[in-house]
Amino acid sequence: MQFANKVAIVTGGAQGIGYGYAERLLEEGAAVAIVDIAEEKGKAAVEALSAKGKVIFVRADVSDEASVKSMADTVAAQLGGIDFLVNNAALFGGMRIEGMLDMDLAYYHKFMAINVHGSLLCIRACLPHMMGRPGAAVVNQTSTAAWMNAGIYSVAKLALNGLTTSLARELGPRGIRINAIAPGPTKTEALSTTVDDQTLNAMVGMMPIARLGTPADLARGLVFLLSDEASWITGHILNIDGGNFMRP
Ligand SMILES: NC(=O)c1ccc[n+]([C@@H]2O[C@H](COP(=O)([O-])OP(=O)(O)OC[C@H]3O[C@@H](n4cnc5c(N)ncnc54)[C@H](O)[C@@H]3O)[C@@H](O)[C@H]2O)c1
Repeated sequence: MQFANKVAIVTGGAQGIGYGYAERLLEEGAAVAIVDIAEEKGKAAVEALSAKGKVIFVRADVSDEASVKSMADTVAAQLGGIDFLVNNAALFGGMRIEGMLDMDLAYYHKFMAINVHGSLLCIRACLPHMMGRPGAAVVNQTSTAAWMNAGIYSVAKLALNGLTTSLARELGPRGIRINAIAPGPTKTEALSTTVDDQTLNAMVGMMPIARLGTPADLARGLVFLLSDEASWITGHILNIDGGNFMRP
């Protein structure tokens, strides 16, 4: 219960990895706001998790500044401020697999608005509520795909890495740490709708720890990065990936 009296936001927490993050943060004693565009799933997640602690659902579209501002104000008013922001929401499940040269530009802009700018908008909106709170921290959810030159998804996650490191400079003097988790292939419904079994098996077969990750594997890293155990760590991209992408 190391996060008793802490308030955490998990964007994209209605399902998949975000749901796993919300569950683990509740188990550590935090009050949690699940923020998602998927209203029905978000409410169902809150119902399923409510026995574990204080959890609310706030609907927001992370790519919409007004929606995100109202979300941050609502969370702060209902849960008493904001200590932790986990930027996990993304267009991932069922995303279009197309080359960037041929991609519909409207889709390109939407993708970047959610997968990159969404995190910046959430940070800007939460900042006033996080300032002055000891141990305040942000974690962005990137991906090992950032380094794999695999089209728009890689470009967006690489930009998110850059956002993490550049914002570390701006947030540090304000008393807020920011880091990122780069998961390898992790067992969620979204992964199975996005990557076919053959590609996935080939990818996993090449990994030193040859299995898919689970949201619980990632949540252990999340708890560490948010905790005071990581109080001198900022601007770090933490791979949690069974050795999927090893950076020398
Ligand atoms: N599953 C994997 O193998 C894997 C690997 C590396 C990184 N990731 C990253 O982890 C995160 C979660 O992945 P997942 O597998 O749980 O995928 P997912 O598609 O199940 O989760 C994404 C969540 O974000 C929400 N969302 C989408 N657009 C939104 C918007 N505009 N505003 C608010 N919420 C929005 C969705 O409703 C969904 O609940 C994503 O950032 C993904 O890129 C996943």
